[in-house]
Amino acid sequence: MSRELPEPAPPIAARLRKAAELAANMLYDGRRYWRHSFTCGARGKENLRARIAIGLHFLEYGLSLAGAQPGHGLDKARQLAVDLGTYIDRCGRDATVEIALKTLAAYLAFNAAGGSPLPDLAAQVETLRDGGDSGLRGGSEEVTAGEIRARGQIDFLAFAEARHSIRQFGPGPVDPEKIARAVRVAQQSPSSCNRQTCRAWIWTDPLPMQRVIALQNGNRGFGDQLGGVAVVTSDLAHWETAAERYQGWVDGGMFAMSLAYGFHAEGLGAVMLNWSVTRQRDRELRALTGIPDSSLVITMIGFGNLPERLTVPVSQRKPLDLALALNAPLKREGRAAG
Ligand SMILES: Cc1cc2nc3c(=O)[nH]c(=O)nc-3n(C[C@H](O)[C@H](O)[C@H](O)COP(=O)(O)O)c2cc1C
Repeated sequence: MSRELPEPAPPIAARLRKAAELAANMLYDGRRYWRHSFTCGARGKENLRARIAIGLHFLEYGLSLAGAQPGHGLDKARQLAVDLGTYIDRCGRDATVEIALKTLAAYLAFNAAGGSPLPDLAAQVETLRDGGDSGLRGGSEEVTAGEIRARGQIDFLAFAEARHSIRQFGPGPVDPEKIARAVRVAQQSPSSCNRQTCRAWIWTDPLPMQRVIALQNGNRGFGDQLGGVAVVTSDLAHWETAAERYQGWVDGGMFAMSLAYGFHAEGLGAVMLNWSVTRQRDRELRALTGIPDSSLVITMIGFGNLPERLTVPVSQRKPLDLALALNAPLKREGRAAG
């Protein structure tokens, strides 16, 4: 790393201590990823559920391409049917099964319509069906640009500019319906292969909430005014390869931001509350709340009713060119995407 500033480096003993602390915490993260992901094959329900999500996403993805072809992803469809059979045997029937069966049905219908019926797969899928239908959906659907624009038409920049981190809250309990709607917004966040690994653990009862908040270091001066606290987690059991080791942070960050926007849309105030902690504090939170070892804690979010008048930091954004590099010239010929 280039040293642009004259600040002296700490003495070697301090540097070694910091390096050891970093290594111990990376080991804590790495061991949990190793233990709960399905790097070495699916060992639990959540691993299998993730593999089913990936498989059905692959089929939906293929069905949604302009050049969708019969026969695409047949090996994935066969594996999905096998995984689904195992899942039904071991874990029973639930939303995962219904969505995957609907997707397989859509896949089979697409292939049949394209002149490539898949009788062996169709027969296999038929053995998995039990006639239950709670209205969940799978496959692909046609929408128009007009519909997307009509339903999405808000001035999102104005909406985003009206959000502030709130550190003054009004009295009273938060309407549970508003919390539910905010979490539904978070659920609409994109997620890797639609794996939907994230969950908001929310406490609004004052005593448990305050015990959770007491473990967080960034709520001085307002923590006692909060109407609720959300702990956003991502389930490590949904990841497979070493390449995916940070995906939980990414998906979790997106879920957290959407949740904050969801609170904002409901007219509530919210503030991200960092979970920048080392392993000891992370374990304390799990011991208190029962959040399992397999869940990565991404961040907390404090929220509550807005008071009529309040003060917020300006939090001036930097000039746009520091956030936007549009068509930056490339240094040398890159490898063509293929
Ligand atoms: C991951 C994350 C952690 C944060 N942690 C805290 C926190 O512990 N306490 C706090 O008061 N604000 C926290 N914030 C809020 C930031 O200070 C705030 O987003 C930033 O100053 C910009 O202000 P704005 O949100 O009002 O636009 C956090 C923000 C993020 C994204």
